[in-house]
Amino acid sequence: MSDTFEPVIGLIGGSGLYDIDGLEDREWRKVSTPWGDPSDELLFGRLHGVKCVFLPRHGRGHPTPPSALNFRANIDALKRSGVTEIISLSAVGSLKEELPPGHFVIVDQFIDRTFAREKSFFGTGCVAHVSVAHPTCPRLSDAIEVAGRDLGLPMTRGGTYLVMEGPQFSTQAESNLYRQWGCSVIGMTNMPEAKLAREAELCYASVAMVTDYDCWHEEHDAVTVDQVVKVLLGNADKARALVKAVVPALGKPRGLCPAGCNNALDHAIITAPEK
Ligand code: ADE
Repeated sequence: MSDTFEPVIGLIGGSGLYDIDGLEDREWRKVSTPWGDPSDELLFGRLHGVKCVFLPRHGRGHPTPPSALNFRANIDALKRSGVTEIISLSAVGSLKEELPPGHFVIVDQFIDRTFAREKSFFGTGCVAHVSVAHPTCPRLSDAIEVAGRDLGLPMTRGGTYLVMEGPQFSTQAESNLYRQWGCSVIGMTNMPEAKLAREAELCYASVAMVTDYDCWHEEHDAVTVDQVVKVLLGNADKARALVKAVVPALGKPRGLCPAGCNNALDHAIITAPEK
């Protein structure tokens, strides 16, 4: 990556977000990767002149469940398409009273409880241990926060996202345990997505859009898909407004990310180079 470049904004849409309206020069294109096929074709276009590439995480029509997502293909397809930063948008359950349905959380930490997914681009032959101590990009998160505040969206900066394997929702004992751990929200999709974005040296920020109170809240019924879908349609409209506001702010040419996202591999590869 050269020192100054024009950003290309990658957008990953979760449940309820299968398209981005208002894109100019829009074109759905198939992108192949050595890791297999991404969830769907990618939508290329421009928002206010800024290049964007959108991927519906579960595919249009939502045919692919979280455990079957090919996260490596999804991240690699975005990287091959020239994407330099990823804004990930996802429906989640809330683990805190003060984060009601309709609220957005700009996540800054994760607890990864997934166990049935391919989690790395590296392996035998080239071993790498990348740092994910700070798994999201503060520069991208700042821009999202400013755009969200300008729009008056109910939004919290910072929070821990518990990523579960699914596809079933949690038991009440699990939900209460995650609350004791201090987690803010729960979902099934941001891992290994965030780890792979770091390995791909892409800036990554996550907007978690609350649809329900999971199953711990005494005054709310345990989460159902019907409830999630009802709330996420409203959330999707707010997410589209947020995208339209934040993309122009991110479009200016920039240098390498000061947080180090674009140099994540500099000190990560342990295998000796071939002689
Ligand atoms: N996605 C939306 N709500 C959720 C919940 N309560 N648990 C896991 N994933 C979710």
